[in-house]
Amino acid sequence: MNAIPHDFEIATARCVLRALGVIDAPFIAAALRDDAFAGDMRWDLPRDETALIAAVAASRDKWSAGSAYRFTVLLQATREPLGCIALRHEPRAHDWSIGFWIARPQWGHGFAVEAAAAASEFAFSQLNATTVRAAHAGRNRQSRRVIEKLGMRFKRQLAEGCAASGMPSEFEYTLER
Ligand SMILES: CC(C)(COP(=O)(O)OP(=O)(O)OC[C@H]1O[C@@H](n2cnc3c(N)ncnc32)[C@H](O)[C@@H]1OP(=O)(O)O)[C@@H](O)C(=O)NCCC(=O)NCCS
Repeated sequence: MNAIPHDFEIATARCVLRALGVIDAPFIAAALRDDAFAGDMRWDLPRDETALIAAVAASRDKWSAGSAYRFTVLLQATREPLGCIALRHEPRAHDWSIGFWIARPQWGHGFAVEAAAAASEFAFSQLNATTVRAAHAGRNRQSRRVIEKLGMRFKRQLAEGCAASGMPSEFEYTLER
């Protein structure tokens, strides 16, 4: 696998995915302050802007190391940020997890599915993934719908639950190459 440069971009019908950068910190901090996000995400970025900037730097180091790829999803027409998509390498070879969020004003337009489908395709074609997995908290119907629309298959209920929210139920799905 070749190293993926930080200026790498993925274009979809309406969006562009590019590496998360410090420039995104104000957008992310504002989006994540929304109560709608409370506890439903496993790989939360910090909401505080100073901590967020450090997390962005760490995320770019992981990108360089090839262990995780965190993308900002932009509207192609205006380059306005819409949300984030992350791919993380799991301990097992060729096994990646995906996580996603979209800022609340942009919900309901199918952006999460469009961006997550493109990121999954990137994992299969460029990261040599054979499995891409996702999980949602039991109460998170919106996330479940995205996962279903990606064509993922239900795999198992995770015993550990959703750490962020303390929710006892978390459900894992996979997409195979
Ligand atoms: C889950 C999330 C990424 C979906 O993004 P999206 O771009 O709106 O996805 P879609 O447009 O495909 O909509 C997904 C479902 O949410 C529903 N939805 C959209 N806006 C909604 C709203 N304001 N309230 C309730 N449901 C809504 C849609 O109707 C759709 O269901 P359907 O396909 O049965 O009609 C987004 O809601 C989000 O960021 N949530 C908070 C973070 C989160 O939970 N991330 C996932 C962690 S596993």
